[in-house]
Amino acid sequence: MTAVPGLAPLSFRDFRPEEAYARHLDDSDPLSAFRENFELPCDASGRAVTYLVGNSLGPMPRRARELVMQELDAWGGMASEARFRGERPWYRYHELVREPLARLVGAKPTEVVAMNGLTVNLHLMLASFWRPQGRRTRILMEAGAFPSDTYAIESHVRVRGMDPSVEVVKVAPKPGQACFDTEDFTRAIEAQGDRLALVLLGGLNYFTGQVLDMPSITAAAHRAGAMCGFDLAHAVGNAPLQLHQWDCDFACWCSYKYLNAGAGSVAGCFVHERFADDLDRPRFTGWWGNDPQERLRMLDTFVPVTGADGWQLTNPPILSTAPLKASLEIFDQATLPALRRRSLALTGYLEFMLRHAAPAGCSVITPADTGSRGAQLSIRIPGNARAVAKALHEQGFWCDFREPDVVRASPAPLFNRFAEVHAFATTLGRILKG
Ligand SMILES: Cc1ncc(COP(=O)(O)O)c(C=O)c1O
Repeated sequence: MTAVPGLAPLSFRDFRPEEAYARHLDDSDPLSAFRENFELPCDASGRAVTYLVGNSLGPMPRRARELVMQELDAWGGMASEARFRGERPWYRYHELVREPLARLVGAKPTEVVAMNGLTVNLHLMLASFWRPQGRRTRILMEAGAFPSDTYAIESHVRVRGMDPSVEVVKVAPKPGQACFDTEDFTRAIEAQGDRLALVLLGGLNYFTGQVLDMPSITAAAHRAGAMCGFDLAHAVGNAPLQLHQWDCDFACWCSYKYLNAGAGSVAGCFVHERFADDLDRPRFTGWWGNDPQERLRMLDTFVPVTGADGWQLTNPPILSTAPLKASLEIFDQATLPALRRRSLALTGYLEFMLRHAAPAGCSVITPADTGSRGAQLSIRIPGNARAVAKALHEQGFWCDFREPDVVRASPAPLFNRFAEVHAFATTLGRILKG
């Protein structure tokens, strides 16, 4: 795996508003060629679109079709024997994605497992890492979290007969601010002190696109004696992550956004290696968490395999792991540092072009600090953002609208082009100017 040389870092001073400049950037970046690895969508009339919703559902890697077909052929040709025979036996198929996933999230391979769906994994992690005892019962999360996180957390509190309005502490940004300051969290954590059992936050906020300072928040949680985990749905394959080094206790993510593995594809989970052999920690269990050497002996006693694998419940979904494997091959070829450089340049160029082309009154709420954002810019359009998103869609620019007044656009470095960013911003400017 050698890094593809990419663009040199670019800043606002380098950017130019002419379309020819955008095309020049596309031509001079070797990563532009990675777009060919994807099938990109068309609208209902068959016209190619500018796809800026990879933060919601990534496009299909061409090789996904091939890898899924191979597994359908394995099923057709070998059926039950495909579990142990053939090029990629199913019994260990999910292990094929372990190392590439570990590279993306900055983990040791034994700390990472592909399993279930994101919300399911959040439940599994809550069961193990929220252990209310004595005064230490509370869970701290962010106000405005993705609803599934709120539902999952509150349901755990209710299942134990406790009251979410007491046990769940929601931290909001300062009045008038869309994004958080790290101190919003660290102060709230300190204030909770020995009441706090768990901090669980979206590492990259789905609405604003803000990347939280995960190492500082983790350290603050640990100082307070609490556990700390992250929902990385919008961060994985997008923002740099060093989960092991940051000392996070656990993290969960889906793989249909920046990981381009298809709707409902197998999700991922990180459990820090200090819990690898923590057999006393309660967990929800299933046969797939057993040692693979012992699993088929059908023993009554559950003896979890070491590491994150010990949290598995059920045999892995081969047909949704195959597209993930296809996608991770592309990440390994491009390498995350080179993709991140292109991503910063694309997103920076989008911000530059919005300032140039869009009228005052429309503002980017995503942090300007490039270290605090990934590929997504959330654009606040007072008035009628929904109608603006609809007009963009009609003109072939797929981005999305979030209540009450935000359009999210996400130029993904694996398949979006600078020329698309240019066209999107100028079209948005034209729509807004009426
Ligand atoms: C931040 C975040 N958390 C949780 C979810 C729920 O994901 P799933 O339906 O895969 O469980 C999503 C889905 O988009 C999300 O964006």
